[in-house]
Amino acid sequence: MLGGKFITLGVTGGIASYKAADLASKLTKLNARVHVVMTGSAQKFVAPLTFEAVTGNPVHYDTFASSTGFHVPHIDLAYNANILVVAPATANFLGKTAHGIADDLLTTTILAANCPVLICPAMNVHMYANKVVQSNIERLKQLGYYFLEPESGRMACGHQGKGRLPEVHAIVDRIVEIIPPSGDLSGITVLVTAGGTREPIDPVRYISNRSSGKMGYALARAAMLRGARVILVTAPTSVAPPAGVSLVQVETALEMRDAVMEHYAAADVVIKAAAVADYRPRLVAEQKIKKEGDTLVLELDKNPDILMELGRNKRKGVTLVGFAAETENLLENAREKITKKNLDLLVANDVTMPGAGFGTDTNIAKLIHPDGGVVSLELMDKYDLANRILDEVIIVSQGTVL
Ligand code: CTP
Repeated sequence: MLGGKFITLGVTGGIASYKAADLASKLTKLNARVHVVMTGSAQKFVAPLTFEAVTGNPVHYDTFASSTGFHVPHIDLAYNANILVVAPATANFLGKTAHGIADDLLTTTILAANCPVLICPAMNVHMYANKVVQSNIERLKQLGYYFLEPESGRMACGHQGKGRLPEVHAIVDRIVEIIPPSGDLSGITVLVTAGGTREPIDPVRYISNRSSGKMGYALARAAMLRGARVILVTAPTSVAPPAGVSLVQVETALEMRDAVMEHYAAADVVIKAAAVADYRPRLVAEQKIKKEGDTLVLELDKNPDILMELGRNKRKGVTLVGFAAETENLLENAREKITKKNLDLLVANDVTMPGAGFGTDTNIAKLIHPDGGVVSLELMDKYDLANRILDEVIIVSQGTVL
């Protein structure tokens, strides 16, 4: 993941600085070495001790301090860093940095940096829209600083608009996009499918299913954070895609099939988490179907089984992982699918169990091997399950590509 990466995290004085503690914690959990530099105003919002506790490292704020563990703090914090992240970044910080002013430890460290610098501005909507602030941002972008735009929404000051610090996972995604992680899947291409396909009936209606896409997106994010190149072929979902993956958006099963076949040649691992519609309306009305008789019969044609097609044409060295969402006879149905589709691993779950299946953030899965072996997992977060599945992929692929 981010093991071995040294991240200097600058925190300036805005209400969003409490979110920086969560960011520091997430980065530390991803094995990065996180060193926090706080401005004087930031310390009025959050105590340095909070950052010290979550990172396990002393917090830096005094340019002239002598007992920081570093010889010359602003030089070492800049020189050792793989990336310098400022979140939240205030208008004051942007103004000073855009004009080379170095009057505290953070702005001095920024001037000494020769690594990528990612700035995440967060402030009141009117301050953010202010022409001076915008021109400072423009200037910094032209100078090569990376930015993550603030989000829109309700702010602490009561105003509505653009200026909120993005969610922590979006900041982490942007970081790994800028400094790609290395991990046990480095050099491997993983093709993941996600979401529920939509099969149009007319211009306003479609047939679909309850898949939220969360499991597939968690797999894409986890594989990317473990160093894989990830191609995510996705049907529509309401989940934000992880940055740093190649996104291929599709709608129908036929479009998903074409996209999967196009990218299959490049893949070492294919994980089919998508819920693909088994049937599609034979005729798609050009105009909205009007309400007329008491009943309406839709004739459906069978969609191709994408995974079965991959299984039939499985290349040597490719690992194929399928999903089976069942409501009864879980093991029996799952074992049949693993043989029929020539899979190396099947993730089966009973979607009727509380905490499992569609829309939830958790899942209860059984990992089934072609020899009949079953690993029964307890209820867990979909992201943790994604990592567990990837661990199993590495085991089943031993001796092939990985
Ligand atoms: N799958 C696929 N193409 C289809 C249907 C399913 O690639 N047309 C894949 C899914 O992405 C999943 C696996 O096959 O990885 C199993 O999907 P599931 O819907 O559980 O099973 P089906 O094969 O469709 O069988 P049934 O609906 O009868 O349970």
